[in-house]
Amino acid sequence: MVLQTVCILLLFLVRWTAPFSVDSGHFNKKTPKRCSYFKEHGMMAVDCYGLDLVAVPQNLRTDTELLHATHNRIRELHRDSFKRYRYLKYLYLDDNMILYIENGTFDPLQDLEAIRLSYNGLDRVPPEILQLPKIRKIFLDNNRLIPGGGFVGAPASDTLESLTLAHCHLQQLPRLEGYPNLVELNVSGNNLNRILPQQLALMCQLKFLDLSGNPKLSEGSSSDGCDCHLLASWIAQRNIILQNSYKLKCSSNHDDFTHCGNTSEAMEIHEACMSAIALKAEAVQARRIWLIVIISVATICIVSLILFLFYQRNRRKKQKKKVSNNNNTDQEGVLPPEEQEISSDEMLNETNS
Ligand SMILES: *[C@@H]1O[C@H](CO)[C@@H](O)[C@H](O)[C@H]1NC(C)=O
Ligand SMILES: *[C@@H]1O[C@H](CO)[C@@H](O)[C@H](O)[C@H]1NC(C)=O
Ligand SMILES: *[C@@H]1O[C@H](CO)[C@@H](O)[C@H](O)[C@H]1NC(C)=O
Repeated sequence: MVLQTVCILLLFLVRWTAPFSVDSGHFNKKTPKRCSYFKEHGMMAVDCYGLDLVAVPQNLRTDTELLHATHNRIRELHRDSFKRYRYLKYLYLDDNMILYIENGTFDPLQDLEAIRLSYNGLDRVPPEILQLPKIRKIFLDNNRLIPGGGFVGAPASDTLESLTLAHCHLQQLPRLEGYPNLVELNVSGNNLNRILPQQLALMCQLKFLDLSGNPKLSEGSSSDGCDCHLLASWIAQRNIILQNSYKLKCSSNHDDFTHCGNTSEAMEIHEACMSAIALKAEAVQARRIWLIVIISVATICIVSLILFLFYQRNRRKKQKKKVSNNNNTDQEGVLPPEEQEISSDEMLNETNS
């Protein structure tokens, strides 16, 4: 009887654990998760999506131009993280747990054009990224940034074209001074209190603006609706396109905004930004002209020198020919004309001293 029960129990155990053990065997098989290579827009790209990586892998091809390491568990970036990958143009590190970026981490990435750091634990924009000479796009959305986002005193960038600071827990628009070529700004989902035209005027090339998810901008922190009215005026005046079908709904008790003031201060800031861009363009043009002048002069000098040397050599050859002809006819021991000159000079020197 006891034996029977034990047998039945054992059978049960075998029956119920059998499929499970197959499964666990499947899990134990350890299919090695690896990054895979592909080509994108002719670039050498690596896909390391969702591999539970805790650090940037160091065994990838060094000619990698696009690294897709989204959805991993990278918590820190170090000086050595990208040392081997200095050809990177696109770096996607969204949805990791990046909390710390060591100084010098991005130094090797002098070709980097776009970086995605969305959904991480950053509290400010990493200043080194702004310093990269070719950086065009920065995605920092869904990080909990400090007020100001770390842009106060941050390096300027003439190359930055697109910045995403959506869902970053900002209540004020950071001071985005020093990014005159910024075309696209995304600050959606921040619940910003107000934006002054003067703040937007700092980015004088701004064309696309995502303000969605900021209801206070419409309501206006000032009950008279002036903030909203001035912002809307500026956006209309500069032909800035509001994205995600966001519309500013400005209302005041009397729908009369005459007391709100004007955007002339913003206009001045905008003009200063534009003239700074023009000045830089002129400086670049001037440098180009100087370069052309220097190269031309150098070319002329080199060609003249070559012609001169060539002429000298020919002259000497001719003289040698003459001398050898003379030698054939005259008696030996007579100096060729050149050497005669030298020796007479030497004699002169001797008599002078
Ligand atoms: C990192 O660099 C910044 C400026 O680039 C400097 O202020 C800071 O002290 C540096 N930190 C360390 C730990 O070297
Ligand atoms: C702005 O960023 C948010 C969050 O990343 C995104 O959902 C939205 O599409 C972006 N807006 C535009 C115009 O790309
Ligand atoms: C704009 O407002 C300022 C004072 O806030 C005033 O001095 C200026 O004349 C105004 N400009 C225009 C064009 O209305």
